[in-house]
Amino acid sequence: MSQKLIIITGASKGIGLAIARRLLLDNFKVINLDVSSPEKQDTDIEFIKCDVSLESDVLQSFQFIQSKYPEIYGVINNAGIIRDNVIWKMSVEDFEKVINVNLKGTWLVCREAVKIMKQQSFGKIINIASRALLGNPGQTNYSASKAGIVGLSRALALEVGKYNISVNVIAPGLIKTELTDNLPPHVLQKLIDAQPQKNIGKPEDIAEVASFLLNEKTNFINGQVIYVDGGKSIGHVTL
Ligand SMILES: NC(=O)c1ccc[n+]([C@@H]2O[C@H](COP(=O)([O-])OP(=O)(O)OC[C@H]3O[C@@H](n4cnc5c(N)ncnc54)[C@H](O)[C@@H]3O)[C@@H](O)[C@H]2O)c1
Repeated sequence: MSQKLIIITGASKGIGLAIARRLLLDNFKVINLDVSSPEKQDTDIEFIKCDVSLESDVLQSFQFIQSKYPEIYGVINNAGIIRDNVIWKMSVEDFEKVINVNLKGTWLVCREAVKIMKQQSFGKIINIASRALLGNPGQTNYSASKAGIVGLSRALALEVGKYNISVNVIAPGLIKTELTDNLPPHVLQKLIDAQPQKNIGKPEDIAEVASFLLNEKTNFINGQVIYVDGGKSIGHVTL
C-alpha cells in the first residue's frame, strides 16, 4: 500500500522535526517545508526549501508536490518564530515578521492544501499555535499571531467540514527546543517555576498528539484547540 502524505512546515529542527520523525513511525510519507535546511540528514524526510510567509514559495512548493504525489492526507503548520519585546520597544518590523511567518504562513499553506483536499474529499489540517495565545507579556506580536491561528482554524473548519476536511489546533506550552534554549537561564527557570508541574515539555510530547490527531480513529475531533502545556493554560499557580 502506498504511504499517505503529510506536509509539515518548519520541520528542520525542534518540534517540527520531532513530529516528522514520529509520523515516519506511523508509516507516513513526510515532506518538510522549511526556510532553513535540516540540521541533521533525515533521509526519509523530504526537504523542500520554502519560506511560508512568501506566497510565491508556497505556490511553487505545492505545484511541485502535486506534480509528484497524487494525494495529500494531511498538513501540519508548525513553522513559527518569536521576536519578543514589550510593545513600547517593539518595531513594526518585528510585529510584521512574526505575523507574516506565524499567521500569514499558516493561512497560505492552508489555502493551497484546501484546494487539493476539497477535490479529494478528505484531509486533516493541524495548526500549531501556543499557550501564549491566551496572552504573554513581551509577546504582543506572537500572542496575536497564535490567537489568530485559532480564529483562522475555527473559521476554516466551518468552511471545509462539508468536504470531509478537519482542522484542529495544538497549543504547546513550554517545550525544550532551541527556541527555549536561547532564553536567559533565570528567565527559563522562572517559566518552569510558573508551571503547575514545575517542568518543561519535550518536542515528542507534541509529536504524540499530532500522531493521535492524524489517526483515522480520531476523525470526529474537529475545530478544537488541544493544549499540551503541563496545565499552564489553567491559570496562575498561587499556592
Ligand atoms: N518551543 C516552545 O516552547 C513552543 C511553545 C509553544 C509553541 N511553539 C510553537 O511550535 C512551533 C515550533 O517551535 P520550535 O520550538 O520547534 O521552534 P524552532 O525555532 O526550534 O523551529 C522552528 C522551525 O521553523 C522554521 N521556520 C522559521 N521561519 C520559517 C519560514 N518563514 N518558513 C518556513 N520555515 C520557517 C525554522 O527554520 C525552524 O526549522 C512554532 O510555531 C512555535 O511558535 C513552541
